[in-house]
Amino acid sequence: MSKILQVVAILMLAVACGFLYKVTFYPHNAFRIIPFFYSSDEPTINATSKTLTPKEILQNGNGIIFIETTNRMEPPALVLCAVESAARVYPDRPVTFFMKGLPDINSKEDEIRAKQRFPILSFYDNVYIFPLRMEEIYNNTPLLPWYKKVNPDKEIHWIHVSSDGIRLALLWKFGGIYMDTDIISIRPIPLKNFLAAESALVSSNGVFGLCPSHAFAWKSMEDFVQNYNGAIWGHQGPALFTRILNKFFCTIPGFQSTEDVMCGNILFTNPVRFYPIPGPTWRRFYEVWDHLPAFNDSYALHLFNYANTEHFTMVPGSNSLVDRLYKQYCPFTYGLVLKKQSFPSKNSR
Ligand SMILES: *[C@@H]1O[C@H](CO)[C@@H](O)[C@H](O)[C@H]1NC(C)=O
Ligand SMILES: *[C@@H]1O[C@H](CO)[C@@H](O)[C@H](O)[C@H]1NC(C)=O
Repeated sequence: MSKILQVVAILMLAVACGFLYKVTFYPHNAFRIIPFFYSSDEPTINATSKTLTPKEILQNGNGIIFIETTNRMEPPALVLCAVESAARVYPDRPVTFFMKGLPDINSKEDEIRAKQRFPILSFYDNVYIFPLRMEEIYNNTPLLPWYKKVNPDKEIHWIHVSSDGIRLALLWKFGGIYMDTDIISIRPIPLKNFLAAESALVSSNGVFGLCPSHAFAWKSMEDFVQNYNGAIWGHQGPALFTRILNKFFCTIPGFQSTEDVMCGNILFTNPVRFYPIPGPTWRRFYEVWDHLPAFNDSYALHLFNYANTEHFTMVPGSNSLVDRLYKQYCPFTYGLVLKKQSFPSKNSR
């Protein structure tokens, strides 16, 4: 009898400790605690229950959409920071990350396993990770015949070109906001149909928002295929967006100051909204500033990762601008980088 009591007491103690551990250490030590979360969640996994599809998650046309068109499954810190910062800035909107390397999700178990790969992101209830299946996404768009014909092995900019196409097809189908994975969100974008000027007369395709079935997406996909030239970097990207705006929506007028301008039914946002630090000076992100800019006129910051061929990274404690930005806008990613720095493992870079 006393043996049974002992066992019960030990069990209760274990449960109580587990609970305390969860409550007490949780916000400060998210990375260590997350496996505990999972094991406690495991009994509720119902492998036969229906998994949510992108269509269901994005049906309100208000999703934030990120994509990864390589097979890479260990996203660099900047990618995690982009998604995490969006998850924080848009707590009431779904934040979706489509990854080419992710295995198919057919059950709740697959869904949970997918999220477990990214402990930081799984903390946010509004983050959804989906496999990116190109043919499915291109289906019923002008891009499908092109996609079936093109030979990725012969394309020199395939990762970029496929990513340029996918974002258009996704926004055509679901609407919402597309963002590159080198954009740190700092405040919500209160706009539906917008394109972002990266300089006065050039549209970016790194961040844009459209309602579902917007003519801009369709016309861009048509032009993408008709005038396809995979050898020219950006021809299906910023050059395409700029061309379609000028051809069908307005003659891009440029800016007087920090105002946005209407271009047909699309708002063309001032470069300062997303590019307060212009492309040619992107290294400023990795420098220490005397006075930290407030970025009061910006919604998000584009870090120009494609230009970063020297692979500058965020170094915790360096006091660089990115150090400060990560700390403020993607604290869990920051914690992960800090932890990897303190306990480098063989397979962490
Ligand atoms: C699992 O989910 C399915 C479908 O939602 C439901 O019919 C079934 O009863 C659930 N099983 C358990 C053990 O909860
Ligand atoms: C930015 O906004 C904050 C808060 O509204 C304000 O205190 C600060 O003075 C602003 N900075 C600039 C440079 O406008």
